[in-house]
Amino acid sequence: MDSGCPPIVNKNASILIAGARGLAGSALVRRLRKLGYENLLTPTSADLDLRRQAAVEKYFDEKRPDCVILAAARVGGIHANNTRPADFIADNLVIQNNVIDASYRSGTKKFLFLGSSCIYPRLAEQPMRESALLTGELEPTNQWYAIAKIAGLKMCQAYRRQYGFDAISVMPTNLYGPFDNFSELDSHVLPALIRRFHEAAQKNAAEVVLWGTGTPRREFLHADDFADAACLLLEKYSAEEPVNIGCGTDVSINELAALVAAATGFRGRIVNDTSKPDGAPRKLLDVSRLTALGWRPNIPLAEGIASTAEWYRANYASARR
Ligand SMILES: NC(=O)c1ccc[n+]([C@@H]2O[C@H](COP(=O)([O-])OP(=O)(O)OC[C@H]3O[C@@H](n4cnc5c(N)ncnc54)[C@H](OP(=O)(O)O)[C@@H]3O)[C@@H](O)[C@H]2O)c1
Repeated sequence: MDSGCPPIVNKNASILIAGARGLAGSALVRRLRKLGYENLLTPTSADLDLRRQAAVEKYFDEKRPDCVILAAARVGGIHANNTRPADFIADNLVIQNNVIDASYRSGTKKFLFLGSSCIYPRLAEQPMRESALLTGELEPTNQWYAIAKIAGLKMCQAYRRQYGFDAISVMPTNLYGPFDNFSELDSHVLPALIRRFHEAAQKNAAEVVLWGTGTPRREFLHADDFADAACLLLEKYSAEEPVNIGCGTDVSINELAALVAAATGFRGRIVNDTSKPDGAPRKLLDVSRLTALGWRPNIPLAEGIASTAEWYRANYASARR
């Protein structure tokens, strides 16, 4: 989207994208390049482990990036959160503490922090407004991740208030797209479905069983649309309140499964195992703060799922499985 306004971040600015190989980070790199930003810093975790404070400080002292996007985090679905709570709280706290502080100290002019829709209270009123944060109990399965992310958001606000550091935070909904994590135990619902339906189609399986009734509703946004919105905010937004990034519409899990079945060529039955839990009936973001800036998503869900399934097929050997 063309904002038509002079960007806060100059086109020659050096921009560090931490987590540039991940789902969100790789989409941000694609989008920034398309917008004409060429001076991008994209270290991998092997180049720079963001949990190591001394290494992070040294890197920032040397590179002094003008702008920093923190898209590096320990991320995963329910199983990963539930079985490795210490990793989720400790890694995320230390990564964001190191990166936010080093950015401020090395003179970064603009900082973007990625929160998440899943850190809102589990029973937040739907659609969820930014003001719902910290108004109720968290979802117990991902509370470790949520507490860390909330601390990151608060740290950005605190550095803005005390030091005038221009740190902004966004709250993306469920993202999907190329370079997602399709692994059996660590993935989110949509890449997990793409993997399962792809395998079922390959084996000509008669059915795929889904947990629960299939009626809960969830919102999904293609990572390229996310990156488009995030870059708009990077260029135009400067305030301490976080901004939700979503498409503003949701689908039921059964509708989602039907789209994935069509995209992967699965022709068998989709069966609901109603003895398994459903989770929250609905999770949808209120995106009025973002749409007030003129932003709209570009990639319809069916199209995005089809291209992601195609990417998964074409990159089967190298995709995170
Ligand atoms: N996926 C979603 O649906 C979703 C929704 C809302 C918010 N978000 C937020 O978006 C951000 C990125 O998530 P994602 O889905 O893109 O995750 P992802 O695909 O798993 O990517 C995470 C990235 O973090 C990097 N990383 C992890 N630990 C690191 C460390 N110790 N040092 C340096 N880098 C490290 C990884 O780098 P290497 O590849 O180099 O190892 C990886 O590129 C997270 O903050 C997440 O909370 C995601």
